[in-house]
Amino acid sequence: MIEYNEKSRVFNITNGSISYMIYLNSEGILETIYFGKAIAPLTDVSALRKSNEWHDSSFTYDNVNKTEYKYSDGFKNNSAPLEIGSHGKYDKRHAPIVIKQANGSYETDFRYDSFVIYKCIKPLTELPHVRKGNFETIEFICKEKESNVYLHLYISIDLDKDIIIKSFKIENKEKNNIKILRAESLQLDLPSDKYDLIHFHGRWQNERNCVEEPLIDGIKEISSNYGRSSHEENPLVIIKEKETNNEYGVAIGLNLIYSGNFKFRAHVTSYKQTHITYGMNDEDFEWELKSGECFETPQAVISYSYNGIEKVSQNFHSFILYNLLSEKNKLPKRIPFNSWEGCFFDFDTKTVTDYIDDGAKIGTELFVLDDGWFGKRNLDNAGLGDWVVNKEKIDLHKIINHCKSKGIAFGIWFEPEMINYDSDLYRSHPEFVLSNADNKTISCIRHQFHLDFSNADVIENIYNQMKAFLDEYEIDYIKWDCNRIICEHYSNKYPSEKQGEIYHRVILGYYKLLSRICDEYPNILIEGCASGGGRFDLGTLFYTPQIWASDESDPAVRMEINYNTSIGYPLSTIGAHVNASPITNYKTKAILALFGTYGYEMNPNKLTKEEIDSLSEIADVYHKYHKSVIEEGTLYHLLDPNKSNWMAMQSVSIDKSVSLCVCMNRKKEWDRYRFLKLKGLKKDSKYLNSYDNTIQTGEYLMNIGINMSNEWCNEFDCRLIIITEQK
Ligand code: GLA
Repeated sequence: MIEYNEKSRVFNITNGSISYMIYLNSEGILETIYFGKAIAPLTDVSALRKSNEWHDSSFTYDNVNKTEYKYSDGFKNNSAPLEIGSHGKYDKRHAPIVIKQANGSYETDFRYDSFVIYKCIKPLTELPHVRKGNFETIEFICKEKESNVYLHLYISIDLDKDIIIKSFKIENKEKNNIKILRAESLQLDLPSDKYDLIHFHGRWQNERNCVEEPLIDGIKEISSNYGRSSHEENPLVIIKEKETNNEYGVAIGLNLIYSGNFKFRAHVTSYKQTHITYGMNDEDFEWELKSGECFETPQAVISYSYNGIEKVSQNFHSFILYNLLSEKNKLPKRIPFNSWEGCFFDFDTKTVTDYIDDGAKIGTELFVLDDGWFGKRNLDNAGLGDWVVNKEKIDLHKIINHCKSKGIAFGIWFEPEMINYDSDLYRSHPEFVLSNADNKTISCIRHQFHLDFSNADVIENIYNQMKAFLDEYEIDYIKWDCNRIICEHYSNKYPSEKQGEIYHRVILGYYKLLSRICDEYPNILIEGCASGGGRFDLGTLFYTPQIWASDESDPAVRMEINYNTSIGYPLSTIGAHVNASPITNYKTKAILALFGTYGYEMNPNKLTKEEIDSLSEIADVYHKYHKSVIEEGTLYHLLDPNKSNWMAMQSVSIDKSVSLCVCMNRKKEWDRYRFLKLKGLKKDSKYLNSYDNTIQTGEYLMNIGINMSNEWCNEFDCRLIIITEQK
């Protein structure tokens, strides 16, 4: 429910569980006065706002009436918690929106004009956004003090769970064009300096390490300028009160429905409050907004919990599954076999059909031919951009027919945003690449360039090539890869004054092509990918319901990648395969992959009978329980590998009748007391657990736990425990 009380001047945005309250002060500035567990609407905010009056020596000089005045109701304009800070004024905190007026002024100061309440959430026009759900929205319409530039602030609350969505729209009602220099999605001012920050740092093959650190005086930035959300930092961040742990205390998760450069900034100010801004990165950003035009920022998603980090996580999971993912998530989920790690570029028709035959023995239901099937692609130095089958290398019709004759679906790999310099496309269109103004030297990563997806002709070309292929071959699945970052971001298509728009326009181009392919081929499941998990974000998930999480499938490292990814993203979105890594046995690797999408990626001709049996055993578990428990169930993080020798996760079906639990150790461990307490079961029901085959009540399993003492555990051994309700 969203209400405005004219007397108290308080907007109360609540779902009965949390409240977000905004006070409209007499200067027309929106002050964030409360964000937390639901409380009765505040009728008198004077005590709450008292802090704003301290040590205030700031006045405004009215140059027309030649008088100095203080803000009438005690508003302290450099430290009050605000919804929209000003820029180029006394408030030196980072403003979420900065515009440069036609006269060259940077001053940006939005004041309240009016508001509208909607019983829904509004979609964005060009960007991925919340698709559906039980939302209410308030739109604040604010006007820049000195010009006719308007800022629309949207705050939506999910009435079913503790999720808030924020975004802005800038509208130029001036006669002249203006420049937007910063277009972030939110400001969130928290009233203390006692927070820790959790963020997900990494690199290729080692994505999303969970880093927890105190926010201390000064500025902490988590950002990407890689042209994609990046391996280096994920857009997921969590701010928690110091004493908060997995189950207790206040935690606020933030994420952004966007796949490009982003910037999260937490500023612990001199006044010991925490000023957060979050949205698109303003590095090299400069957007020309013509008279009459609007600019929408991506939507930021806030997950609030007063019951620890687990609740932040569960809110995000439910939000992604029910409010963000497309209908594609309802397509059949089949066990894939991916060719990449088995044969890389080195295959012919026979290699592939042999793989299909051997893959069938371990339950493969979808065969995916990865990189190497097109153009002159026998190594990574050629072919990208030429999306035609390399008929000298393979007979793709024969391969697909072979698959279909065995009842196996067929999938293919694309890297639509990329081009090798050794390709027909580059020879005919060298201007299609992102480059620099003189076009003399271009960064070349993996022998490839980034296509200029800000250019509609480029998108049209790639679209036509993909369409010709997809119309000729019967394809059930696409792996959509993106194997390099953006370095030079100069577009030949645009004039000099538009070059600050390119980073963002390239992302808009990515969304345009992806949405076109999604819409035209509703029955093709698409999995996102970017050198493993370099674009694991909500913008991509809007289109592709799963994303390849990492090029590292060695379970020792993957254990943490999957666990940490699942803090912000549901297990069903985490692309995970069993590979040939020698660190541990196939069963262990399969159990780990089961807590993701599950699939295979190795040379299947080399599997022993024993290995085939253990993979088939887990494939059976997949068929029985994956959908109801892993894809749709509730996830609990039982033991945190970032903090202990063990990793344990448990997922419980919605009706609580079945649960799967994985626990995996890092170092050899035996001869010790070890009880694994479960979560989320029905207290009074009886459950059989597959670990010791005893039947216990939910209450017993949640309070005493499964007795795993004295079990020998080798490095990276793991156990899968199936817990089933006994009626
Ligand atoms: C990326 C992907 C891999 C594979 C290769 C192919 O690295 O993450 O899974 O598809 O590209 O070149």
